[in-house]
Amino acid sequence: MKISVVGTGYVGLVTGVALSHIGHVVTCIDIDEAKVERMRKGISPIFEPGLDELMIKNIAEGRLFFTTNHRDGFAQADVIYIAVGTPENEDGSANLTFIDQVARDIAENISKDIIVVTKSTVPVGTNYYIRDIIEKQLKVDLQVDIVSNPEFLREGSSVHDTFHGDRIVIGADSDDAAKVIEEINTPFGVPVYRTDVRSAEMIKYASNAFLATKISFINEISNICEKVGADIESVSQGMGLDKRIGSLFLKAGIGYGGSCFPKDTKALTQIAANHDHNFELLKSVIEVNKHQQSMLVHKALERFGTLRGKNIAVLGLAFKPNTDDMREAASIVIIRQLIDLGATVKAFDPIAINNAKKHLPDNVEMTNNIEKALKDSDCAIIVTEWKEIKELNLEQYARLMKTPVIFDGRNCYELERVKEYDMEYYSIGRRPIVTIKQLESV
Ligand code: UDX
Repeated sequence: MKISVVGTGYVGLVTGVALSHIGHVVTCIDIDEAKVERMRKGISPIFEPGLDELMIKNIAEGRLFFTTNHRDGFAQADVIYIAVGTPENEDGSANLTFIDQVARDIAENISKDIIVVTKSTVPVGTNYYIRDIIEKQLKVDLQVDIVSNPEFLREGSSVHDTFHGDRIVIGADSDDAAKVIEEINTPFGVPVYRTDVRSAEMIKYASNAFLATKISFINEISNICEKVGADIESVSQGMGLDKRIGSLFLKAGIGYGGSCFPKDTKALTQIAANHDHNFELLKSVIEVNKHQQSMLVHKALERFGTLRGKNIAVLGLAFKPNTDDMREAASIVIIRQLIDLGATVKAFDPIAINNAKKHLPDNVEMTNNIEKALKDSDCAIIVTEWKEIKELNLEQYARLMKTPVIFDGRNCYELERVKEYDMEYYSIGRRPIVTIKQLESV
């Protein structure tokens, strides 16, 4: 199969590379010339474990190409995948400007029948909208079939997820088109779920909204745990043993971030509103998440009375480990609040610093050396559960910090272990551990 993929963000690039790896000839199209030039050399524009290796291999074996030219990119294509961004409009709805443009580019440049597959997360009905644009703009009589094929990969493990996903959703009106897409995906060995176009579009939003709901739910339970003296880690584990609930996405923390959950939850409330439905549950999920992101700042304020003049080490900037992505990261909210409260922030992250510079005020010092961030600080706030933080020798806190007061937003350490060291430790949904008595007066 000859495939074109438009857009080389997370979804487009991983999709293109993976499809070439299972034997298809794939041309990835992007408008950014410099980015395309680097990708041709096998350099991935995103940090994604395993991706560079696959790019280099498939480029070398003549199955993976990159271009900025739509005519070249679409010339031989049997199938075109759309994987451009659908960013958030001010009202939370999905912005379809890029989708619109791709549809026009397709109409202008194809010269044979085509199947257009949408990977981008798009409001229900958008696939039909795409087909309408293409058909209206086409100058010759060609058959255009549309297929909704939403993506469920997670950043940081997207290569693994592509080859080991739980399902591939294919939404199509045309049985023939659905069969072609199913055959393209067969080598992945992932179960296929076939449905209609609108339902496939909805599955994507509903799945992300449901996972976000699980997270907000467990975060609320963690807040109650703190008040009643229960332990959220035990509670999650005990709940997760029930197969109807499942153990995944029940990890309490400082709320969800990233490029999907915040955007897609807001977009789904907007889709509902557009159809006169008030999706109150999901609105609460969003509200709980916002509140949860500030949780550690409230705890620090309660502990110190004021944060003015305090030196605070923020450990972890990326929205989750194994990615350098800063989109909707809780660290942005937390650091801004700390600075507004008069604190000085030194932040640690092993790989996200370059991206973080675009999101954080200039006066935030950043380092990829955890010891430097901790040195002489009054307290540390753990935001991302990086390996470097989880595996840190806990002695380091007392050795390096002025006062080893830790606010852990990711429950990185067992309480039993914390008790063996000199520190004051506040985490999420668990009782505080204070092993240094004299610190109570600091
Ligand atoms: C998510 C979906 O998992 C994926 O299917 C979809 O395609 C895109 O959105 P991603 O944003 O890459 O993927 O990350 P994910 O691992 O799902 O985590 C999202 C956020 O939720 C992170 O901020 C993470 O820290 C948080 N999270 C996740 C929790 O707080 N608790 C959990 O139990 C799980």
